[in-house]
Amino acid sequence: MPEFQKVAVIGIGYIGLPTAALIASRGMQVLGVDTKEDVVRTVASAAIHISEPDLDGLVSKVVSGGALTTSAKPQPADVFIIAVPTPVDCEHRPNLSSVNAALESILDLLAPGNLVILESTSPIGTTEGIARRISERRPDLHIGTNGTENGAIYVAYCPERVLPGRILTELVNNDRCIGGVTPACTRRAQRFYKSFVRGACVATTARAAELVKLTENAFRDTNIAFANELSLICDRFDINVWEVIDIANRHPRVNVLRPGPGVGGHCIAVDPWFIIDSAPELTRVMRTSREVNLSKTQKVVEWACALIEDHPYANVACCGLTFKANVDDLRESPSMEIALHLAVKYGARIKIVEPNLRRLPPELADHQVGFMNIDEALRSCEIAILLVDHDEFKMVPLAERRHLDVIDTRGIWQDMPRRT
Ligand SMILES: NC(=O)c1ccc[n+]([C@@H]2O[C@H](COP(=O)([O-])OP(=O)(O)OC[C@H]3O[C@@H](n4cnc5c(N)ncnc54)[C@H](O)[C@@H]3O)[C@@H](O)[C@H]2O)c1
Repeated sequence: MPEFQKVAVIGIGYIGLPTAALIASRGMQVLGVDTKEDVVRTVASAAIHISEPDLDGLVSKVVSGGALTTSAKPQPADVFIIAVPTPVDCEHRPNLSSVNAALESILDLLAPGNLVILESTSPIGTTEGIARRISERRPDLHIGTNGTENGAIYVAYCPERVLPGRILTELVNNDRCIGGVTPACTRRAQRFYKSFVRGACVATTARAAELVKLTENAFRDTNIAFANELSLICDRFDINVWEVIDIANRHPRVNVLRPGPGVGGHCIAVDPWFIIDSAPELTRVMRTSREVNLSKTQKVVEWACALIEDHPYANVACCGLTFKANVDDLRESPSMEIALHLAVKYGARIKIVEPNLRRLPPELADHQVGFMNIDEALRSCEIAILLVDHDEFKMVPLAERRHLDVIDTRGIWQDMPRRT
């Protein structure tokens, strides 16, 4: 009999739903559990509530074939995967309430032989905390010993590192990092992932696996902070930062990343705080990097305000709102923050150009700003604040934007006079 037949995925959002659908397509019976009724209903009707290439077809197939069902409440299974949100609060402290609620919802269902996997990005020690909670509430179960006869169950951490837009491909092909709270837990979780992952399933401890995920994003944040700091230095000394980076990167062992208006998204801008919160006195570089990236956003606001004040009758195109190029995701977006600031201050003079959104986000709509395509903006604006390197903006030829005063935070219009 196969070792893993029934899987419950707790939280069927951007990570949980593709994971549930993929596992269901590999012959396991999967229950997708979510506290949001509309999510449960939508997926049960073989549709999807998130946008991700090819996911609709896969979900439709596994739901119609009966391999993926949904519910607001978990049911007994061989494997429980927890993929719920782990945000930080306004003081940048991790909020684990969803992980704790998800765990509470399965405690009474656990049975000998079960495997509990945490996939949510989490602070160091969270998985061990889950094992402790299970031991407290279910003294009949023993964590991570060999054999099921003595009530052994298994607890492991396996972070998700997929790129939105390529989730289904990367779920299968990326290497995974798997850390159990005991070696037996790691081995069991490895066997589970090997049943549907083509990438390597690298074994480690639960704590190391938690830190691996946080390290990946803190590393990116720190490197971007270096580039952002460099952009401020170049501004002070009137040097072209893009030229400096291009030439420095000709060194065979140098790879400076590109600066921007700050750092956004729900991972890189958030995850370093998980490490900083757990060891404030040891994380000076990470904290400073976060602060540098946050302060770059304020600096762009200052530059934009100074330029706008110099041209009291000019209309201002804010080009891009999303946190990175060619997506519709506004989470933690510094561009959105900059646009909002300018909207509050200058109202109708601000014209938002965001080709990946159909309408203005409500926060901006309240401020009477315009919403237009790039053609209209090029016709009606005299200033452009370039915030996101969308393909649509890259393609605008110099002849069509020569009349603009530009702050180009992404370095895609380098063939004209610019500020950063
Ligand atoms: N989205 C990504 O690209 C990505 C990449 C790597 C890691 N992660 C991490 O994966 C985790 C999940 O992220 P996501 O983007 O899928 O979040 P999401 O918000 O898209 O989905 C999470 C789902 O969990 C549900 N939920 C919350 N509490 C629940 C509970 N107690 N029981 C059942 N369902 C519950 C929510 O209703 C939601 O539908 C986070 O820790 C995130 O940091 C996300």
